[in-house]
Amino acid sequence: MTSPARLRRRLLSWYDRHRRALPWRTPPGGTPDPYRVWLSEIMLQQTTVAAVTPYFRDFVARWPTMGDLANTDLDQVLHAWQGLGYYARARNLHKCARAVVRDFGGRLPDSERELRALPGIGAYTAAAIAAIAYGLKASPVDANVARVVARLYGVRDPLPGARPRLEALAASLTPAKRAGDFAQAMMDLGATICLARRPQCTLCPWREACAARRSGEPGTYPVKVPRKARPTRRGVAFWVVRGDGAVFLRRRAESGLLGGMMEIPSTDWREAAWPLREARRLAPFTGPWRRLPGVVRHTFTHFHLELTVLAARADGGPKGDGVWCAVERLSDHALPTVMKKVARHALLGITRHGRH
Ligand code: ADE
Repeated sequence: MTSPARLRRRLLSWYDRHRRALPWRTPPGGTPDPYRVWLSEIMLQQTTVAAVTPYFRDFVARWPTMGDLANTDLDQVLHAWQGLGYYARARNLHKCARAVVRDFGGRLPDSERELRALPGIGAYTAAAIAAIAYGLKASPVDANVARVVARLYGVRDPLPGARPRLEALAASLTPAKRAGDFAQAMMDLGATICLARRPQCTLCPWREACAARRSGEPGTYPVKVPRKARPTRRGVAFWVVRGDGAVFLRRRAESGLLGGMMEIPSTDWREAAWPLREARRLAPFTGPWRRLPGVVRHTFTHFHLELTVLAARADGGPKGDGVWCAVERLSDHALPTVMKKVARHALLGITRHGRH
């Protein structure tokens, strides 16, 4: 068995040569900015480095400090977040910035306990901030790191049950010094060498120590409990156009999926099909409605969605609240991707099949 001390040394020396230059990283010898570390970690939750990079640059250019972000409106933040997905993160980001200004004078706390008490910061993110921003001995274990550890130690217990064991193993490897570099080295190893499907073992600094490599089938680690197939939910969206070409939008409820985002009004999303007559009763206008051909499909983490689109010209006032938005200005609103698909479908459907 290779000792933890030796494993650490090897990994850190590999990191010194091969670290990825990412916009939120501090060059060697520099002092990390906890605000940038926090912002990047929130953005990187469930999202790739490639997708995050332009958003991160845009956010730090607009809001260089925690105070700047806290002082802006939520709508501006939601708008800048458009396209990154999982919008609850953007609301929590803003809430967290305000809490940090109010309770900590604008500087993120350094303890994992205090970090975890802030909006949007779970165990993983708290550990990542403690280690990367403050150099404290903490071990963030995301899916990449879990895979690296499962392979190194040949853990065959299936995830998610194996998580506590993998976290304990990661903690036992973490050095007291350079804990932030160690955490990022684990992430880089998982992202560039210890790949899920095709691990590049010949390039790995831990190739001699790795149990999965010795097994001859490193790609079979970590074992996972098969995940349930995603169900399909269905809904009906209402595309309403006023005489001057403006479209009717409304804000979704604060809690739940896409909470607080603008939407093209729609029924609930449920597994049972919607008879159009039932859907029309829930429409924000009385119609007459025209069903556009085809459906809009979108996949969320836990389900597939199929939306049928009904189009109408506005007659009189809406039932309930909403705003009118010129078609050319739709991108000014924080419209989630699924709603952009609905808009595209409606605009194409109406031009192809004639105006109503
Ligand atoms: N994934 C999550 N956090 C990361 C980081 N700090 N660097 C690279 N990838 C990451």
